[in-house]
Amino acid sequence: MKFFIDTANLQQIKEAHDLGVLDGVTTNPSLMAKEGISGQDNVINHYKAICDIVEGDVSAEVIATDFDSIVKEGEYLASLDDKIVVKVPMIKDGVKALKYFSSKGIRTNCTLVFSAGQALLAAKAGATYVSPFIGRLDDVSTDGLALIEDIRLIYDNYGYETQILAASVRHPMHIVNCAKIGADVITGPLSAITALLKHPLTDNGLAQFLADHAKAAEAVK
Ligand code: E4P
Repeated sequence: MKFFIDTANLQQIKEAHDLGVLDGVTTNPSLMAKEGISGQDNVINHYKAICDIVEGDVSAEVIATDFDSIVKEGEYLASLDDKIVVKVPMIKDGVKALKYFSSKGIRTNCTLVFSAGQALLAAKAGATYVSPFIGRLDDVSTDGLALIEDIRLIYDNYGYETQILAASVRHPMHIVNCAKIGADVITGPLSAITALLKHPLTDNGLAQFLADHAKAAEAVK
């Protein structure tokens, strides 16, 4: 399973990268705005800075919503770096653009997916990744993980190669459950990834080992 970090914060991207388990980055216009990145040049430079940190895929989202503009913007984003994956919203012109990009060998991430039908369309259009937003579904009392299960079943039924990128991950159990279901990738905040480290028995056990070691060392003095 691949781990992507869902942020435009360079410090957090570096931290996740240094942990040695990072496979890529996803961003969106809200995450860019959160870091105070605005204006075409700044946005482009920020994508380049992210690509300089990580080895894996970097999703860069188009702002355009009509076919011609999505294609123009997406081709430009893809030309920035081989790591760029063009993030396209699940709308009619977006689906057409996914098909176009796929025919040109440009990798895509179909975003804002909330139903199995949308995920089926994304796969048929040749998306590289599909991003079901599980946290936002949970927020409205709908089972986000059940959607991942449905998409896994549908993709396996037909051998679709589109990778399931579970997005809007909020906590470590989202990650563990996505792994059990067979999501190909998760993307979430650094806090959800580092929370996987934690277990009180690990902390207690380590404290005991270190104390026993110190006691034994004291005894032989
Ligand atoms: C997906 O790529 C989105 O950037 C993201 O996961 C949305 O997450 P949120 O619901 O926490 O904003």
